[in-house]
Amino acid sequence: MIGIISAMDIEMKTLVHLLKDKKKKVHAGLDYYTGKLDGVDVVICRCGVGKVNAAMHTQILIDKYKPKALIQNGIAGSLVPSVGKLDLVVGSELVYHDMQDYVIKNFDPLEPVYYADPALVEKAKEVAGDEGGVHIGRIATGDTFVSSTKEKDAIFKKTTALCVEMEGCAVAHTAFLNKVPFVVLRCISDSADDNASESFDELMPVAADCLVDMITHLIKLI
Ligand code: ADE
Repeated sequence: MIGIISAMDIEMKTLVHLLKDKKKKVHAGLDYYTGKLDGVDVVICRCGVGKVNAAMHTQILIDKYKPKALIQNGIAGSLVPSVGKLDLVVGSELVYHDMQDYVIKNFDPLEPVYYADPALVEKAKEVAGDEGGVHIGRIATGDTFVSSTKEKDAIFKKTTALCVEMEGCAVAHTAFLNKVPFVVLRCISDSADDNASESFDELMPVAADCLVDMITHLIKLI
C-alpha cells in the first residue's frame, strides 16, 4: 500500500477519480480513499491546509494503513527565477521556514532538514525524464501563503529552498519519526511574490493536475 497525501481537494480529485475498486472511510472528519491506481494499491487522503493538518493525517494514515511509502503532492510557490510556473519540483530535502533555528537545535524531536528517501527521489527523477522543467532540491514549508516579494526573499535567504508550500515538511517530519520512506512532489502555481494570489487562482487547476502522470508512473516503481 502506498499513501498519497494532498492538502486540497483539487490536488487529489483526479487521482481519486482514476481509482478502481474505490472505497471511502472517514478518519478525524476527513475522507480517505483506498483502491487500485493503475493496478497499485493506494490510499489517498486530503489532509487539509497547513502543518498541523498535514502532520495529523500523515500519522493517521501511517497508523491505519501501514504504507510502505508516502507521496505528498500539491502545488507550490517558486522562490527562485530558475523554477518557473508549472515546473515540477521533486523535494529531496524539506525544511520549516517558520521555526527558529535555536528551537530546532535545542528541542527534541526536531531535525534541521528532513531528507526524502533517495531511492524515491531517483525513481521520481527517472519518471520525469529529461524534458526540462523538473527540479530536484529543497522545499520550504510554513503556515503562510507567501504573497509578497519581501517575505519570499526572506524565506529564500533563510532556507535556500527552490519553492515554498504549507504541508511538505510536516509530512516529512511525521514520516521520518515513523521511519516511512517519503517524497514530496510539487507543481509551481505562482512565484510567491506580490502577484502570487492572481497567479495561484489562474494556474491552480492546471498545476494541481500536473503531477497525476508522474504519480501513476512512480507508484509502479515502488
Ligand atoms: N502553495 C502554492 N503557492 C504557495 C505560496 N505562494 N505560498 C505557500 N504555499 C503555496
